[in-house]
Amino acid sequence: MSRTPFVAGNWKMHKTIEEAEEFITGLLPLAGAVDDVQIAVCVPFTAIQAVVDSTRGSSIEVFAQNVHEADQGAYTGEVSVAMLDELEVHGIVVGHSERRQYFNETDAALRVKVAKILAAGLEPILCVGESDAQREANETEDVLRVQVTEGLADVADEDLAKVTIAYEPIWAIGTGKVASPQQAQDACAFIRSLVADRSADAAESIRVQYGGSVKPENAKELLGLPDVDGALVGGAALDPASFAGIIEGARA
Ligand code: 13P
Repeated sequence: MSRTPFVAGNWKMHKTIEEAEEFITGLLPLAGAVDDVQIAVCVPFTAIQAVVDSTRGSSIEVFAQNVHEADQGAYTGEVSVAMLDELEVHGIVVGHSERRQYFNETDAALRVKVAKILAAGLEPILCVGESDAQREANETEDVLRVQVTEGLADVADEDLAKVTIAYEPIWAIGTGKVASPQQAQDACAFIRSLVADRSADAAESIRVQYGGSVKPENAKELLGLPDVDGALVGGAALDPASFAGIIEGARA
C-alpha cells in the first residue's frame, strides 16, 4: 500500500512571530500547493496563531512542539491539548529527545499525551531514538521497543495508523552525522514491525519518519527507502528554500 510522505520542519526554539511570517511568505510560493506530500511546520507556541492564520487555505499544516498530559491544573508554564486545539493546530510533536533529555519527558507521560491528542482529533508525531552509547552497546532495538510500545500503549488498534512515529537517532540530531540509509531503513522497519505486533493493517498504513541531519542533498535517498515515509527536519527546515528542497525529495 502506498503511504503519503510526511515532511515536517521542527523549528525548535527558533523564530519570533515576525520571523515565522517571513518564513511562511517564502515557503508558500515554493510548496503551498503541493498535494502529494503532507507538509507541516512545528512552531513555538508564541507563533502558532500567526502561522495558522498565514497558512490558512494552503497545504502547510501547523503542529505544536509539546503539550502537557493533564487537561488543566497547577502546571505553571504548560499548555493543554484543548488550548492548542483552540488555536487550530493540526497536530503536536511529543517525545522529542531534547524534551526527554532536558525536560524529563517520560514514556509514562507520553502514552497519556498521545492518546489525548488523538482523542481531540489531532495528529501526534511520537519521537523515538537511541543515543550514541545505546547504539554502541547494541541496545537500539531495546530502546525503540520500549519507547514505541509504551508511547502507543493507550492507543486503540484502530487508531494506531493516525500516529506518525519519528525515528530520530540522538547522535544524528544537529550533528551533520546522518544515519546511513541502511541504519535508517533497519530502524524504521523495526519500528513498523513493533506496530505490526499490535495490528498488521496499522503497520501497513502508519508513517515512520526519519530525523537527524536531513538536508536537501540527502533527502531523496533517505525518503526513497522502503520503510521511511518522511522526515522530521531541524536545522535545514529553518530556511524556506532548503525546506522546500527536502519536500521535493519526498515527491515520487
Ligand atoms: P536536525 O535536522 O537539525 O539534525 O534536527 C533533527 C530534529 O531534531 C528534528 O526534530
